[in-house]
Amino acid sequence: MKVGVLGSGEVAKVLAGGFIKHGHNVMIGSRTPSKLAEWTTAHPKAAAGSFADTAGFAELVVLAVKGTAAEDALKAAGERHLTGKTVIDATNPLAEAPPVNGVLKYFTSLDESLLERLQKAYPGAHLVKAFNSVGSASMVNPQFKGGKPTMFICGNDEAAKTTVRGILDQFGWETADMGKAEAARAIEPLCMLWCIPGFLRNDWVHAFKLLN
Ligand SMILES: NC(=O)c1ccc[n+]([C@@H]2O[C@H](COP(=O)([O-])OP(=O)(O)OC[C@H]3O[C@@H](n4cnc5c(N)ncnc54)[C@H](OP(=O)(O)O)[C@@H]3O)[C@@H](O)[C@H]2O)c1
Repeated sequence: MKVGVLGSGEVAKVLAGGFIKHGHNVMIGSRTPSKLAEWTTAHPKAAAGSFADTAGFAELVVLAVKGTAAEDALKAAGERHLTGKTVIDATNPLAEAPPVNGVLKYFTSLDESLLERLQKAYPGAHLVKAFNSVGSASMVNPQFKGGKPTMFICGNDEAAKTTVRGILDQFGWETADMGKAEAARAIEPLCMLWCIPGFLRNDWVHAFKLLN
């Protein structure tokens, strides 16, 4: 697939690297594509461009920008480049505030997630929440003693979720589909839970697994 990753941070680079590893054609995007020169030199199969170039190139879009900038990044990507496409939303709605006793602060509420806001703003895009509840170091084919971890996903479009499930299979994850967009109200705060051992004990290597 042609995959366009919106973002120049750690998550964007790790996920873009994962897509390359699994044989996809990758473009990575930033407001300042030149800041990705070192990364594209190290990954000569990938290209870098603006958010609009990257979304225009993509069959599958990945949103991996700062939560407070997510809406602006999709605006810059351009609605016409998003309509009808699967958009993996890896963002978390982190507020500009420090954690309290290891607990992050969000700018959303338990009655409205960031994914729902973005889905409302871009009704033609097929947003699927994924990759938000694990650290970047464990996103691609992680190896845990406890076996394959679980990625919780949600979104309104069933075909888009089937596409994301296929990607997660490649990336070494079990998928737990939690339903429609509203489920992001529960999935986004998993990042808060995931980060607590990190902030309290500098333990950043773990992932969730759903047992049944
Ligand atoms: N770090 C993790 O391990 C982890 C794990 C799971 C989920 N997440 C989530 O993944 C997302 C990316 O995290 P990250 O740590 O890789 O990077 P980050 O520092 O949160 O975000 C960097 C990206 O945000 C973009 N950005 C910042 N301000 C912007 C603005 N005003 N308008 C448009 N774009 C703007 C930057 O664009 P430019 O390239 O143009 O500067 C850059 O691509 C976040 O939502 C985070 O919560 C992170």
